[in-house]
Order: sequence, then structure tokens, then C-alpha cells
Amino acid sequence: VTPKSMLHKPVALVSEEMNGLAKNIIGLIGSNTPTMNKMTSYYFETEGKKIRPLLILLLSRALSSIPIEERDNLNIDSTDFPHKTTDLEAKKSVLYANPISNFSPLHVLSGIGQINALTKEALPLPQAKYDEKRGILPKQRRLAEIVEMIHTASLLHDDVIDHADTRRGRPSVNAVFTNKMAVLAGDFLLGRATVCVSRLKNPEVIELMSECIANLVEGEVMQLHNTPEENMTRSTSFKPFTDMYFPKEEGQNSKSSISISIKSHEALIDDCFQHYLQKSFLKTGALISKACRATAILSGARQSVIESCYEFGKSLGLCFQLVDDMLDYTVSEKDLGKPAGNDLKLGLCTAPVFYAWMEDESVGSLIKRNFSKPGDIDLTLKAVQKHKGLDKTRKLAEAYRDRALNSLEQALPESDSRSALELLTNSILTRKR
Ligand code: FPP
Ligand code: MG
Ligand code: MG
Repeated sequence: VTPKSMLHKPVALVSEEMNGLAKNIIGLIGSNTPTMNKMTSYYFETEGKKIRPLLILLLSRALSSIPIEERDNLNIDSTDFPHKTTDLEAKKSVLYANPISNFSPLHVLSGIGQINALTKEALPLPQAKYDEKRGILPKQRRLAEIVEMIHTASLLHDDVIDHADTRRGRPSVNAVFTNKMAVLAGDFLLGRATVCVSRLKNPEVIELMSECIANLVEGEVMQLHNTPEENMTRSTSFKPFTDMYFPKEEGQNSKSSISISIKSHEALIDDCFQHYLQKSFLKTGALISKACRATAILSGARQSVIESCYEFGKSLGLCFQLVDDMLDYTVSEKDLGKPAGNDLKLGLCTAPVFYAWMEDESVGSLIKRNFSKPGDIDLTLKAVQKHKGLDKTRKLAEAYRDRALNSLEQALPESDSRSALELLTNSILTRKR
């Protein structure tokens, strides 16, 4: 029987928070430089998918159904609450604390805060009150805003790297304000996001979010250097994704792991595919998985719950990127709101091409020269079609989706929010943009 809540859109449970998201972010990124304000708020004025904040808010709600007594990972010995205790009230005062409690006029100067128009005095920021019925902690709500800021910063830089002139259905920031300005705007957003993370006053969360910024950059650099030649010389000892990438036969249980039989010319493909999956984890999975982990940490959940939330985010992130790489082949620029068919033009080899290469060795030479000769892109598209590269990529995305659903079941007790997260996880595969 389908639970009633499954009939809802996932966003319905957190629409109040989602509706306030853009306004809150714009409040956090205000600066004394009007051009900066125009650039940084540009993408928050339009309707993005906002998948990351939605995920964090739903996960926060789902975690709130774990009784506080069971949350034994609360850092009671923190700045918020300097007494180590197991007292329930003390636990609550740590959990429900506001992200910004020690306000100083310096925040106004740096842009985070407001000035009383009459007295020109610094005003404290409004404190978000914890609403037990909604189950979303003020710090988790702020984390959702932070993650959207980091994601947007990475898009500002990404569009410069990818020479993209559209994003979210309008001209990109680099197209409107120049590349130099887009890079600076991205840096500024990252700086502000970092201030906001610090104010969560949780060292583990600060480390996680800082690390995933580094991961985004690593992923992007890996992507720029992904040729078979490089793969020949790369160390092959680290293969975290080996059991996942071969497509399953029809009728095979999707939740079982997939065994590999390497054909003769596939040692190289294996290496390249590993590299591709690791790159995908770094450029997309890291932010999503570390944000899920941080969400669980802020709820005080015990270690096993934190680990399952992290695994959930990892699989979901990879599923998301595989679908993104498929959509680049199947959806028009108009529907995507950003350039389509761009990966081959940028010389980038993604899962559909790897699957074609597995069946046709000659695709390797096209990959090697980054599809740069006239006619290369056409040949590659034909090979992808002939060898069902998109179907096989979808199957792999489905395998990661199933992993994500398993982790979700392990992490959380049943609730309407968990059902909404399942729905969201499934919708990653059917999305059209
Ligand atoms: C979109 O991928 C881009 C990313 C997921 C990450 C980009 C990361 C950087 C540019 C590193 C710099 C990072 C920071 C935090 C400033 P895509 O180009 O495949 O997708 P698209 O079609 O949406 O452009
Ligand atoms: Mg890119
Ligand atoms: Mg891009």
C-alpha cells in the first residue's frame, strides 16, 4: 500500500522553509558593493531545482523523529553550552541553538547583519525559533542555505570553465558581467558561506564543509585531465567503485552487487571508468554526502545513523551526476535552461561513451583526442546509440538509487519525511532538467 504521504510532492513538507530560502540567502550575502550584490543574488532570483536544500530540510525532519534521548552524539561541551551533562534540557539547548548567537557590530560592517536606519546602530540578526512540529533545527536550516551558496559558487566558476552562456534559463553571470567578475562573485559567495559555517560552531561540520569545497575543485581538475594516456600511468590500487559500473542483465536483482568480468581491452576502460566515478563523486557526490552527514551531526544522531546518512548522500550524488550526464545527450538547451550536448564539445567523456567504448575499441581513439577532429562527435553519438550507452548509464544510475534507498532505510525510522526522501530519490532518475 502506498503511504498517503507518498502521494505528496516531497517539497510539500518543507515548503515554508523552501519559500524563505532565497530571501535568507540574499540576507547572508549582502555587501557594500552594489555590483557584487547584483551578481551574487542573480541566481537566487530565479527558480533553480534547489535539490540540495530540499534534501537537507527533509533529512532534518526525518532525523527529528529519532527521540532526543537516543541522540548520544551531542557535543554538550560546546561554546553554546559549557557544561557536560546528559540532562535533557541541556541537550535541547544545544540542539535548538541559533546559528548566530554572539552578534557584534563587525557583522554589519562585513555585511552579515542590518543597521538601524534611524540610529545607525547595529541590530542583532533575527533569531530563528525552533518549531517542534516542523522538526527542522535552526542550524540545519542554515546548513541548507550554506550548501546552496557553495553549490551556486561552484556554478559561477563552472560556467567560466565550460564557456557556458546560459544557466537556470537566463544568460549566465559570466555572459552578463564577464568571466573575471563571475570568478570573483564565486569567491565572495564561498567566503560568506565559510563565515556562516563557522557560526554553526561545530568543528566537525566546519571540517566537512571545508573539505567538500576542496573536493569540488579536485573533481573539476580530474575532469580536465581524463584521457586514456593518463589512465595508463595512473595508480590502480584505489578502486572504490569497482563493483558498481557494469550494467545488470534484465531480471537481475537490482539490490545485489554486480560482479565484474574484465574483457581483454577492458583493463584500460576499467581504469578510466574508476576515474570517471571518482571524479563524479568529488564534483557532485562530495557536497551532497557531506551535507547529509553534517545534517545528521547537527541532530546529535549516533554514529551508525551518521554513517548511513553519509552513504545515502554518496549514492544519491553519483546517481544525480550519472543522470546529469545522460540529460546532456537527451534534453534540449531550452528545457535544460543551460547548454545541451556540451560534454562532447568540451572533449568530456562520460558514462554513455564509456559503455560504447566497451563494445567498440575504436571509440578509444576518439576519446583520446577529446572528440576534436571534424566528424568525431557524430561518430561518438552513433556509437553511443548503437551500443545502448544511455540505457546502460540509466541502469547504473538505478543501481546507485537502490543503494541510496537501502541506506535511507538503515538510517531513519519510518516517517512521512522519510517517504518524501524516497520519493525525491526516485525522482532524480525521472527528472528532465
Ligand atoms: C557542474 O558540472 C559543476 C560542478 C558540479 C562543480 C564545479 C566545480 C568547480 C568549478 C570548482 C570550483 C568550486 C568552487 C566551490 C568555487 P557540469 O559542468 O557537468 O554541469 P552543468 O551542465 O550544470 O554545467
Ligand atoms: Mg563543468
Ligand atoms: Mg558546466
